[in-house]
Amino acid sequence: MPATVLIGAQWGDEGKGRVADWLAADSDIVARYAGGDNAGHTVYVGTQVYKMHLIPSGILHDHVVCVLGNGMVINPVNLVREIDELKSAGVNITPERLIISMRAHIITPAHIALDAASEKARGDQKIGTTLRGIGPAYLDKTGRQGLRAGQMADSETFADALHAHIKLANVKLGREDALDPQIHALAYLEAAETLKPYLRDTTEYMHFRLKSGARVLCEGAQGTMLDIDHGDYPFVTSSSPTVGGVMVGLGFGARYVGRVIGVGKAYSTRVGSGPMPTELEGAIADRLRGTGTNFWDEFGTTTGRPRRCGWLDTVVLRYAAAVNGFDELVLTKLDILSGFDEIQVAVAYDVNGSRRDFLPATLLEYGAAKPIYETMRGWSEDVSGVRNWSDLPPAAQAYIDRVAELCETPINTVSVGPEREQLVHRT
Ligand code: IMP
Repeated sequence: MPATVLIGAQWGDEGKGRVADWLAADSDIVARYAGGDNAGHTVYVGTQVYKMHLIPSGILHDHVVCVLGNGMVINPVNLVREIDELKSAGVNITPERLIISMRAHIITPAHIALDAASEKARGDQKIGTTLRGIGPAYLDKTGRQGLRAGQMADSETFADALHAHIKLANVKLGREDALDPQIHALAYLEAAETLKPYLRDTTEYMHFRLKSGARVLCEGAQGTMLDIDHGDYPFVTSSSPTVGGVMVGLGFGARYVGRVIGVGKAYSTRVGSGPMPTELEGAIADRLRGTGTNFWDEFGTTTGRPRRCGWLDTVVLRYAAAVNGFDELVLTKLDILSGFDEIQVAVAYDVNGSRRDFLPATLLEYGAAKPIYETMRGWSEDVSGVRNWSDLPPAAQAYIDRVAELCETPINTVSVGPEREQLVHRT
């Protein structure tokens, strides 16, 4: 049975975690295929808030097996911490429920130090990474000098490889004593011991489960605009969160890719540097962002940084729909738009005097893009209690329909709050 794929349609933080949580209820397997603990997925169940960085949101459903695919970069120490935290919150995590690809790459303290050093060296041009070592880990992977999760299975050779890796990083950092291999390796060796039972050939596992009809959900991290190829390079992450990354990052063919669902927020946010044509400053941005007192306010789950906020950009959504072939789009956080008299939607860009309907391919042009807005009527009603589509205010329905039309993709589900049941489906 072909897999369902869930992909961020903007710059990450679209609310994929809560949508994955909804879809996981009808899945047997939930698999991550790219990225690492730069991601932060929040799921709210009753009074409990679960924050996950590496483990798919599917872990909250007892019947689901979660897979960390070969396309990921995994920090073993942080993964053990996340497992422990979820376990102490009552989540059942065993090697039967969580499996880690032996082909996934490992993030080491050296990668984290190199990430910080590279950002510092860039100065004003910094990417604004999450400082989790993501870029350097993928750099080592493509440079064919990375460490793979499977190496953790043999403690002795893993210790040697880790020491050699840290010594090499010290050369790159320009100081022989920058990182002490003994001290830094210790925590990793302990984590490796804990993770050993979870290691598996996930390519083989996925192959047999897909062939035997398992219902698979592939949970994307980050978003289309942060994709190493399709995002606004170089202000991107180092992996492929888009649909192509699914096949590479889990190891199965295109015929096993079924429904592709995009997740987009009802307005735009971005953390880190890079162009954001609809970015706002002042009262509207502050209102979209919130004050940080609620966990759903626009502050990074991983870094706590305030997110840049602005009106919805349908050029971005249309582009994401084209790159990923969305079958449908889920629009999240519609409730945040309640109370605006008017809402602006970017429908195209003006780039140096010419109208552009498709996302510009170069940073020079994208950096110069000015939004061309369409103004829509807002709504005053609080929609957080709405559960039937027909109870959404007519102006909210008109907004959803216009966005769907502009991104040439149906929207049949919206979220109106952080809780599990605050999803409204078109009937
Ligand atoms: P990195 O992935 O830590 O290298 O960061 C590269 C860029 O992607 C930075 O702009 C980050 O803020 C952004 N980024 C990475 N992961 C996420 C995410 O999960 N949500 C939003 N932005 C992210």
